[in-house]
Amino acid sequence: MKKLSKETAGERIKKLREEIDYHRYLYHVKNNQEISEAALDSLKHELFLIEQQYPDLITANSPTQRVAGKPISGFTKVKHSQSMLSLNDVFDFTELQEWKKRLKKITDKKLTYYAEVKMDGLAVTLIYKDGQFIQGATRGDGKVGEDVTENLRTIESIPLQLRGDYPKQLEVRGEVYMSKVEFDALNKREGGKYANPRNTAAGTIRQLDPKIPAARKLSFMAYDCVTDLGVDLHSEVHQRLEDFGFPSNENNQTYTNLEEIQPYYENIIKRRDKLPYWIDGIVIIVDMLDVYNELGVAGKAPRGAVAYKFPAEQATTIVEDIQVQVGRTGALTPVAHLAPVQIAGSVVSRATLHNEDEIKRLDVRVGDTVVVHKAGDIIPDIVQTLVNLRPKKSKAYIFPTICPACDSEVKRKPEEVAHYCTNAGCFAQEKERLYHFVSKKGLDIKGLGPKIIDQLVDEGFISGFADIFKLTEGDFESLERFAEKSATNLVKEIKAASNILLHRLIYALGIRHVGEETAITISDIFGSLEKIRSAELSDLEVLPDVGDIVAQSIYSYFRDVKQVKLLDKLLVEISIIDPQKSGYKQSDIFKGKSFVLTGALSEFSRDEAKDQIRMRGGKVSSSVSKTTNYVVAGEKAGSKFDKAMKLGVKVISEQEFKDFLKK
Ligand code: IVH
Repeated sequence: MKKLSKETAGERIKKLREEIDYHRYLYHVKNNQEISEAALDSLKHELFLIEQQYPDLITANSPTQRVAGKPISGFTKVKHSQSMLSLNDVFDFTELQEWKKRLKKITDKKLTYYAEVKMDGLAVTLIYKDGQFIQGATRGDGKVGEDVTENLRTIESIPLQLRGDYPKQLEVRGEVYMSKVEFDALNKREGGKYANPRNTAAGTIRQLDPKIPAARKLSFMAYDCVTDLGVDLHSEVHQRLEDFGFPSNENNQTYTNLEEIQPYYENIIKRRDKLPYWIDGIVIIVDMLDVYNELGVAGKAPRGAVAYKFPAEQATTIVEDIQVQVGRTGALTPVAHLAPVQIAGSVVSRATLHNEDEIKRLDVRVGDTVVVHKAGDIIPDIVQTLVNLRPKKSKAYIFPTICPACDSEVKRKPEEVAHYCTNAGCFAQEKERLYHFVSKKGLDIKGLGPKIIDQLVDEGFISGFADIFKLTEGDFESLERFAEKSATNLVKEIKAASNILLHRLIYALGIRHVGEETAITISDIFGSLEKIRSAELSDLEVLPDVGDIVAQSIYSYFRDVKQVKLLDKLLVEISIIDPQKSGYKQSDIFKGKSFVLTGALSEFSRDEAKDQIRMRGGKVSSSVSKTTNYVVAGEKAGSKFDKAMKLGVKVISEQEFKDFLKK
């Protein structure tokens, strides 16, 4: 994160704290929420990072320092015999290893672990006397919860009478949750009222009328026991609890090192959708109870356990710009350009805003902090605008009335949400230009063919040349049928293509009548883009092989305000290789010499070989004449070889050519 000035940090901290407090109150006290947990976590994380920059701005009541929630009135309060703690989160393997390192500073005992599935429900504590369930309570603020005994009684997975060899007094902790099947059935019965099963379970357990929880069929899974059962390991506690009649998760497992837990974690992520209940991570706990107890508690969480959370599918970030892109059908798609943010393992820097109505619904503006959602391989979108975090001088977004690609009029058809460019040729031309730009003789971006360009344009990811260089792996992954590996490769290819020889750039721009040969001629003669741009018509007309029409076309291109704007945007993203400075010393073998290629080379494509020659100051010509210095002959060399022999021009093999390049 960028270092903020102290003043900016102070203002942002104040706003974030108010916002987080508001959502925490809704979530923990009212069992209600306006933004997702992931979005709230993202705000907390931002606050945490800013506070790290200015530790003197941390206050005791900051959300980063506080234990969550107060119980609301309506149920009898219960003071817990032992605090109901929460867990610290880790989000990747490195953070998990750092957790272990911290433990190693406190204890030198060998650590073994119990890995558990982290149920997405609410924590409760259950008290048994002489085998009978006598009281159950919610977590509340961790110290005092609410007596929800009657509601818990309705949950069939909670035993009312213990089995086996139970102690006289027993206190068990675990998670109350709603299965996917029950959640879906409830939503079906009540017209899709419920947004997520965690909140629904929490809301259900706090109903004053136990008939409601009874009808909704909640479930319970045990994960801890306050009572000393005389065993050594946490995994044994689970076993004993099962013996007493409590369900414990069948996916839980013991491990001797963290390296084995990583594949377990990844496997659970893969199977997550198929499990009958919602989970939001795994819990890793030091298995030896004496070590766990020795490690103790720091703040509100035990040191000996962590929650290894799954990658969140939502995060908050800032809208830096809103741009409109023209798709294949001429439909205009507004796209939010975002401050890059990690979501579910990839960097998101763009989100679709769909259409004008959606922008109005969200009331999203440049400068706004928004909640971005990305699930699996779908295109990220904005689900919410956090208006309280809006900068003072923000202005509502106005949808353009002229096409950003061709300046034609934009119309919205009645009964449709989309705006269209009224110029039928607009988007087609735009796409053709992009195909040409990345083609073999242009930037030669391998893997970026017309099909992918079509998708990128249609999804609103690119409209001009410059946009190509801003594409991220996440953008590609969100396209249909796109593998992670090819996304990585494509981003690499694009990066490599951003260093480009002048003649390739001139060709790629797609100036009318300017083919490869002309591009090479004018690049060789002028030597820099600046000189080509400022050339007068008369300078261009006198070039060899450049007629009046071609000269006029080049001249007009660089005086077209729209083209120049696009070019300048592109120049921010690329750098033109200057053969003089590119590290390839203009070697005497090549400088000013004329080469002709014939036959197939095994280690170079034709174009690569040509570039190698040009970079060293040589020229490439397509036909052999008396002025040709060298003919490079590959496999199956044809008539050019014969002609070279006839004219007495020196013929070299691919190997000799390679030796030339090394000199
Ligand atoms: S162990 C010391 N194990 O996650 C706290 N917690 O983020 C003992 N949770 O408040 C927690 N599944 O409500 C543990 N297998 C599991 C869990 C689990 C869900 C919840 C629990 C806790 C929260 C902490």
